[in-house]
Amino acid sequence: MADGKPSITILGGTGALGAGLALRWATAGYPVIIGSRAADRAADAAKALAQRVANSTVSGYGNAEAAAKGDIVVMTVPWENHGPTIDAVKDAVQGKIFVDVTVPLVPPRVSRVHLPPEGSAARTSQILLGENVQVTSAFHNIAAAHLQDMDHAIDSDVLVFGDKKAARDEVLKLVEAAGMKGWHGGPIDNSVVGEALTAMLIHINRNYKIDGAGIRITGTPGGTE
Ligand SMILES: NC(=O)c1ccc[n+]([C@@H]2O[C@H](COP(=O)([O-])OP(=O)(O)OC[C@H]3O[C@@H](n4cnc5c(N)ncnc54)[C@H](OP(=O)(O)O)[C@@H]3O)[C@@H](O)[C@H]2O)c1
Repeated sequence: MADGKPSITILGGTGALGAGLALRWATAGYPVIIGSRAADRAADAAKALAQRVANSTVSGYGNAEAAAKGDIVVMTVPWENHGPTIDAVKDAVQGKIFVDVTVPLVPPRVSRVHLPPEGSAARTSQILLGENVQVTSAFHNIAAAHLQDMDHAIDSDVLVFGDKKAARDEVLKLVEAAGMKGWHGGPIDNSVVGEALTAMLIHINRNYKIDGAGIRITGTPGGTE
C-alpha cells in the first residue's frame, strides 16, 4: 500500500481498456503494475505510462509475476484469452480481489450478446479461481478511448458486481478514483447484465454513429448528476 492506496495489477494492461484504466489510476496516485503475456511488452507499456504521468509508480511484468505483486488484480483481455489468462494467474491471485472486465464477445458479431454456458465471464472466473478469490466485475460499459483521453469527462456509470459487498466497496473506490460514478450491481450472477449491455451499446454506437455510448442510473436523489 502507498499512502493507503492499494497497488493495482492490470493483466493485459498493454491493450486498449487496460491502458486507459492504468492511465486513470496512475494519475490518481495508485501504484500500477502492468501485466502482459510478454514481460518486455509490459515493461515498455509501463515506461510509456510513467513518461505520461509525472511522479507515478508504474512497473511491468509477465502476467503471473504482475498478479503476484499487486494488491488488487484487474483483468482486461479478450474473451478468447480469458481461460488461459486465468490459468496463468490462478495461484498468484488467491486471497485477493480480482476484477474481471471481460465481455464475452465473439468476433465478428460483437454487437450481438454472447454468453458462456456458465452464465457470464465473471461467473466463469469465480468457478475457475475458486471461492478464496473475491471475484468482482466492472467497467464493461466504458469505452477505452474515453479512458485514454484525460480531457474527456466520462459520462457513463459503472456497474460493479460480486458476491462480497466489501470487495465491491473496494472496487467502487477505484471507479471513483478513475473519474466515474459506480453502483453496487449485486452478486456475481448479475454480471450478465453488464456484460450483455456492451454488445447492445456497440449496436447503438454503430446505428447512431456514437463514439462510445454509455449508461446512467436515473431517478436517484441527486438526479442524474
Ligand atoms: N475496448 C473497449 O472499449 C472495451 C470496453 C469495455 C470492455 N472491454 C473488454 O475489455 C477486455 C479488453 O479489451 P481491449 O479492447 O483492451 O482488448 P485488446 O486491446 O484487444 O487486448 C488487451 C490485451 O489482451 C492481451 N491478449 C491476450 N490474448 C489476446 C488475444 N488472443 N488477442 C489479442 N490480445 C490478447 C494483449 O496483451 P499482451 O499481448 O500484452 O498479453 C492485449 O494487449 C475485453 O474483454 C473487452 O471486451 C473493452
